[in-house]
Amino acid sequence: MHPFILLQRTNGSDTLSPLIQGFAGANMTCRVVFNQKGGVGKSTITCNLAAISAARGRRTLVIDLDPQGNSTRYLLGPRAEELDSTLVDFFKEILSYSYKPKGAAGYIHETPFDNLHLMPAHPDLEEQQGKLESRYKMFKLRDALESLEGYDALYIDTPPALNFFTRSALIAADRCLIPFDCDDFSRQALYTLLANVREIQEDHNNQLKVEGIVVNQFQSRARLPREIVNELIMEELPILKSYLSPSIRIRESHQHARPMIHFDPRHKLTTEFEALYDTLSQDTQATA
Ligand SMILES: Nc1ncnc2c1ncn2[C@@H]1O[C@H](COP(=O)(O)OP(=O)(O)O)[C@@H](O)[C@H]1O
Ligand SMILES: [Mg+2]
Repeated sequence: MHPFILLQRTNGSDTLSPLIQGFAGANMTCRVVFNQKGGVGKSTITCNLAAISAARGRRTLVIDLDPQGNSTRYLLGPRAEELDSTLVDFFKEILSYSYKPKGAAGYIHETPFDNLHLMPAHPDLEEQQGKLESRYKMFKLRDALESLEGYDALYIDTPPALNFFTRSALIAADRCLIPFDCDDFSRQALYTLLANVREIQEDHNNQLKVEGIVVNQFQSRARLPREIVNELIMEELPILKSYLSPSIRIRESHQHARPMIHFDPRHKLTTEFEALYDTLSQDTQATA
């Protein structure tokens, strides 16, 4: 059994702080879900894979770096609006040379789901960016996450841009997952995106592995998406074999703030998320 952080509530705050820390998991994976385009399924895929990971007993943390906070709302529901401690405070700490820094562990919240924790986003992240960038803080997230103990899997959700937050995430992670929505414009953008990831790999993070492209909202009966995906495969892009279907249930799952594994465990899309999760785990074990 892995050692795990025992968490306690600090007075008057809903933040969790570590009471006893276990050993850092040597097998901890840190996965970034990235695509410069919005609406391709980054937050949906981040939260659903993280929820499966947690449901299977892995101690899992979601880091929501998107100021829009969609993952934060998905995992916390209305509670997301009342948080007194978010990633904005984490980055404030980084900018303020605190003598007694809380570190990343000080900004982690429980979710209603066992084994699933969250570092929540905040809208003010947007305006913090300039300061963080001008003071070269791009490596701080990696350092902070590396010092976290007791987690088996980290999932980082990112904003739809190549900016300070996405660069920090790509530097911190060892796996990169790229959702793709079968749109022809997104297809053109994939090449630029892969080149950007490769540049960060070369310059800053040689541990980073592109796990693959997740085909999302794939309409198997429509000709165009089939053609687009086949062409990408012919061009030897790393298309993962588990595709995700379109389903209205995902929106309902967002509305109820319950990832699919909890909201509708027998649904086809849930099975597809599980198949995707298994594909990624097999690959992780194979390369470990
Ligand atoms: N497989 C799917 N089927 C139906 N709707 C989906 C699917 N995946 C994502 N969506 C919807 O598409 C929208 C964008 O998804 P989201 O995960 O927020 O994308 P991103 O984080 O890349 O902006 C959301 O409204 C979400 O509910
Ligand atoms: Mg998002």
